[in-house]
Amino acid sequence: MNALYRDLAQLAAAAERRPVPAKWRPGFHLAPPVGWLNDPNGLCKFGGLYHVFYQYAPFNARGGVKLWGHYESPDLLHWRQRPAALFPDEPFDCHGVYSGSALAEEDGLYLYYTGNVKLPESAGQSYDYITAGREHNTVLAYSPDGETFRSKRLLMENSDYPAGLTCHVRDPKVWKDRGRCYMLQGARTAENRGEALLFASEDRVHWSHVNTLTTQRPFGYMWECPDLYALDGTTVLSVSPQGVAREETRLQNLYQSGWFPLTGDYAGEYALGAFTEYDYGFDFYAPQTFSDGQRRLMIGWMGMPDVENEYTNPTVDLGWQYMLTVPRELAMEKGVLRQRPARELAALRSGCIAQTVAGRYEAPEQDVFDLELALESPVRVTVRDCAEIRWADGLLSLSFRDGGCGRTIRRARVDRLRNLRLLADASSLELFVNDGETVMTSLYYPAEGQKGLQVECAAGALSLWKMNPMEITR
Ligand code: FRU
Repeated sequence: MNALYRDLAQLAAAAERRPVPAKWRPGFHLAPPVGWLNDPNGLCKFGGLYHVFYQYAPFNARGGVKLWGHYESPDLLHWRQRPAALFPDEPFDCHGVYSGSALAEEDGLYLYYTGNVKLPESAGQSYDYITAGREHNTVLAYSPDGETFRSKRLLMENSDYPAGLTCHVRDPKVWKDRGRCYMLQGARTAENRGEALLFASEDRVHWSHVNTLTTQRPFGYMWECPDLYALDGTTVLSVSPQGVAREETRLQNLYQSGWFPLTGDYAGEYALGAFTEYDYGFDFYAPQTFSDGQRRLMIGWMGMPDVENEYTNPTVDLGWQYMLTVPRELAMEKGVLRQRPARELAALRSGCIAQTVAGRYEAPEQDVFDLELALESPVRVTVRDCAEIRWADGLLSLSFRDGGCGRTIRRARVDRLRNLRLLADASSLELFVNDGETVMTSLYYPAEGQKGLQVECAAGALSLWKMNPMEITR
């Protein structure tokens, strides 16, 4: 056994034994047991269980060298926290087991990820870590049972990728199509353009570059966490681009996540349509999708990299930071991609209040809830005295009075309002408007004792439930 693996596994397990205060801990979202979480990784259903891996830095709530954390569940409601699955314990991944994906096969789980290596600077040798000084290796780890993760194998290194790229090539997403394996990786070219590299393999181990997917005009300098999937007859190319200019009512964050419709053949001649953001809130990035045999589910990182100067998360002082979104069911209806909370979550609802609202409705004790509103007129929803959601004159907004910790306002154009659904957890809000056509996700931090929900509208139908916590065992 690799000695570094054993030491890191013991240290991580020890860090996880330290209790984390209950304040702001989510009831129905997956958060790191301790420390830092970012991208969801390796999402799959295997051996009857959902597996959620994630970028995990248990030793420091502000980040650091990444492991893969691991949760599993039979039903998306009862979760088991598993020991961290992958550690930076080889020369080819010593500065982080970066993001990647899972291929669930009959004989086991094949986990593809990026081994991050940062070469040390020395006297007379300095690096920009973009064009030099960094290795992004493609690595395959294998698990026969979803419990034990061994036998790492280096598949590709930077010299195996196509010419004309920087060192930034990462986040392999692998799937099977008609018996052939495909892998998409995010890349930054030497001209600072984002693109997605497509590789193909007959045996899951030997890969060759077969295509490059990108826009006709440059769209950002780097594409992270690419994904490609068929959704109700549309081929969707999903990316998290960096370096796209901010706008007033879209693309408001430092980095984006969204999708292009792809026509033609992704492994041959293709064209990309217009880019649509998945989410207009403050905290949504690097989502990954998978099929559980019934439907396509997406989970995103409820967070945003590199925004410390814009907004912060006070849970850092409590020893942890960030969480994942709820699993969202995706559907494509007439070119519109809809996201709806996984239907399983309805089982957490209790104490239904259903009534019509004309004027003002108040529920002074609510804090963790699921709210549905059917209405077509301007509306204002105030949550726990610190968050406000408004729709009027074709504009939807989410803003914070306080508790946003630097989060100000996010807007989205919504011409007509039909309904909205708000999932409010202890320190997060996920807003789904018009059956999941427009979504806003944000972290927020209400003060102790700040409770209550108010809805103001001319006329609407309201359903409100308290949300019970999911069960998370260790
Ligand atoms: C996206 C990302 C990925 C990378 C990982 C490292 O948030 O930067 O591109 O693999 O995070 O944690």
